[in-house]
Amino acid sequence: MKILVTGGMGYIGSHTVVELIAKGHECVILDNLYNSSINVLNRIEEISGVRPEFVNADITDENALRNVFENHQFDAVIHFAGLKAVGESVTIPLKYYDNNVGGSIKLYQLMEEYNVNNLVFSSSATVYGSSFEMPLKEAYGRGTTTNPYGTSKLMNEMIIEDYCHARKELSAVVLRYFNPVGAHKSGLIGERPNGIPNNLMPYISDVAIGKRERLNVFGDDYDTKDGTGVRDYIHVVDLAKAHVLAIEYAAKNKGMETINIGTGNGYSVLEIVEAYKKASGKDVPYVIAPRRAGDVATCYADPNKAKELLGFEAQYGIEDMCLDSYNFIIKNPNGIE
Ligand code: NAD
Ligand code: UD1
Repeated sequence: MKILVTGGMGYIGSHTVVELIAKGHECVILDNLYNSSINVLNRIEEISGVRPEFVNADITDENALRNVFENHQFDAVIHFAGLKAVGESVTIPLKYYDNNVGGSIKLYQLMEEYNVNNLVFSSSATVYGSSFEMPLKEAYGRGTTTNPYGTSKLMNEMIIEDYCHARKELSAVVLRYFNPVGAHKSGLIGERPNGIPNNLMPYISDVAIGKRERLNVFGDDYDTKDGTGVRDYIHVVDLAKAHVLAIEYAAKNKGMETINIGTGNGYSVLEIVEAYKKASGKDVPYVIAPRRAGDVATCYADPNKAKELLGFEAQYGIEDMCLDSYNFIIKNPNGIE
């Protein structure tokens, strides 16, 4: 298939492009490089032997988007482009809604105009909110979000649902990611967020390489195995492979499916610290800090629907997630420059 990958220079997008190329698909990447480097393209080429076409454009720029659809006949779109910093979204909500919702609407309108009928969208477990029982099942529907980032994902899901209802030729797979971590085995692509990392694994990586003194463990009094927060971490290469299966599924089926992409296993913060220490051979000092606002005690997926519909099952365990994160950070302590 010829696939437009928005946000394909980013963390999950770049890994997905590599897996799509490995399966013989042709990718055109559209990205405004807001949160990625042009050098990701060289890295993708180094891994896959193919240099995909890259368009430096913003999904909120209708003319630029139109040009891309004018120049290519796509079979499908995988839509990663978006802003994703939870805290920042509270401070600048309109930018988040403009980018993540406004940009998506423009993209979907052009898909319709150019008769592109297969879509995979990056959603998040955050749309479940905090009131459902674990493991989280797709059949629960959507809960209440607590920040504009989460709400922008919820709104996208609702827009796609209405749109699929109205346009029967459309096929959309909404993937709800749990906690993507790790990096490609080559250490050539991976994630190092700008500034102070918000998420656990990138923060631990910074501590392991001595960039930060110690990890703050946000709360040790949750009702979990050791009192620290429990999450469903999934290796980014497994997640990337799930996208290949999802877009191939979309091409063969009509309507909308919402599918969790997780492992079904929950690990606590302290278990991740221990696993990272073991994988890296480095010390990861930590202190117990107050709970972080908005955090839930436990969050993990029921991964059965992904297995039934897509034949997807995560292959990598926590050891590979930590080892590959460390391998990436020692090779790219300042990210991909
Ligand atoms: P990322 O920031 O690494 O990648 C996103 C890419 O989109 C970046 O390269 C950025 O430059 C680009 N982009 C942003 N706005 C754009 C715009 N208006 N036009 C064109 N390009 C634009 O993030 P990621 O971790 O790879 O996440 C990819 C998608 O998955 C996002 O939609 C994110 O919200 C979603 N998601 C991520 C996680 C996670 O933990 N990483 C979890 C759930 C969902
Ligand atoms: C966070 C976001 C969520 C987003 C997801 C993926 C919040 C409240 N939630 O989820 O919306 O979809 O990232 O991008 O921001 N932790 C520490 N110390 C740290 C960092 C994290 O103890 O320095 C703990 C957290 O309290 C949590 C676990 O580690 O228990 C995982 O945190 P994180 O990696 O930020 O992911 P989520 O909170 O699941």
